[in-house]
Amino acid sequence: MSSTIQSFAVSAIPPVANPSRIAVIGCGYWGMNYVRIFNELLDARLVAICDARSDRLREVGSRFPGVDLTTDIEDVASHPEVDAVVVCTEATTHYNVTRRLLSAGKHVLVEKPLTTTTADAQELIALAESKSAVLMVGHTFVFNAGIQKVKEYVQMGQGRVYYLYARRTNLGPIRRDVNALWDLAPHDIAIFNYLLDSVPEWVSAVGGKVLRNCRHDVGFISLGYPGNIIGHIHVSWADPDKAREVVIVRSDKRIVFNDLNGIEQVRVFEKGVSTLEEEPLNYGESRFEIRDGDIISPRIKPTEPLKNQCRHFLECVRLGQRPVSSGVEGRDVVRVLEAVNRSIECKGQQIEVERNDHYAHTAIASTVR
Ligand SMILES: NC(=O)c1ccc[n+]([C@@H]2O[C@H](COP(=O)([O-])OP(=O)(O)OC[C@H]3O[C@@H](n4cnc5c(N)ncnc54)[C@H](O)[C@@H]3O)[C@@H](O)[C@H]2O)c1
Repeated sequence: MSSTIQSFAVSAIPPVANPSRIAVIGCGYWGMNYVRIFNELLDARLVAICDARSDRLREVGSRFPGVDLTTDIEDVASHPEVDAVVVCTEATTHYNVTRRLLSAGKHVLVEKPLTTTTADAQELIALAESKSAVLMVGHTFVFNAGIQKVKEYVQMGQGRVYYLYARRTNLGPIRRDVNALWDLAPHDIAIFNYLLDSVPEWVSAVGGKVLRNCRHDVGFISLGYPGNIIGHIHVSWADPDKAREVVIVRSDKRIVFNDLNGIEQVRVFEKGVSTLEEEPLNYGESRFEIRDGDIISPRIKPTEPLKNQCRHFLECVRLGQRPVSSGVEGRDVVRVLEAVNRSIECKGQQIEVERNDHYAHTAIASTVR
């Protein structure tokens, strides 16, 4: 495991025996990857698979004989042999399904976004704590070796981050329960928070319904991080150019992550500009220093991010530790998205991101659905 991934010991969580016994709920497009990975990993035993659609279950059952199959999450919640559960259902179901499993004392890894309201996320965090259970969110890019390498460069040396931006576009897949911002931007918000070790203070966002969909299929989000660092995220389901990129501009270098570039996933341009004096010489005048150096393409060990994420979950369950992408990090992403909703409703107005941990249900949250 990379040095940039650290867990926090939570002594209240009792350790689980090895191999951990796992159930997967929701075996659609993404859930099948969890089924495959937990079937492969030596320190896990896939015990049960649940999907509301019996045709999906039949198909999975033929590929994974010996695994219990059910259409009812109650069977998973009450299964005596299940230690931990992956929830990979649609976003709007995450809260109810995860709450039921945590109540039954199961450890849970739930896909992003954790919930669709901050109040729900907060409730799940409290429930997990009260049950001494691990609650982890599938912020997959935090487990991407390329993003972990980018973090090493962000933290390296004396330079400071000026701003960062991300583009996540493609033609679909269009979801029926949440808009493109709630579907795609959780990845980039989680990446920015992870790289900067902070959460934004404010957001400003606009969205478009270019496909005449009832939901926003295009979004542009600006985020204000502590230290006057500006972030920007562009997401779209309606762009024929598939992009998965993050760029960090520092005073001394520009770091580029391109998840679609299998050969050079990360490139570092040792180029930058900074002011020479703290205070300008004369009013409005500064002297600048321009640096120009090498272009570095660091070696990145080829690993599957989702497999790294599953290993981390197993480790946290086994050792009773708080994950790097715990319920708290999941909630931080959700509260940014709630502020994004408000900003879109106010035509891009700058909205402060709620920092209080005690949240009330608000009418705004319903606009995501
Ligand atoms: N981390 C990533 O890179 C990534 C990529 C894709 C999707 N996802 C996330 O994974 C989740 C699932 O996405 P998907 O594309 O696989 O969706 P999907 O629609 O293909 O699959 C969802 C499955 O959940 C099942 N389901 C829904 N409610 C259920 C319930 N109450 N009980 C049992 N089964 C239920 C559905 O029948 C369906 O088979 C979403 O939260 C999505 O955001 C994450």
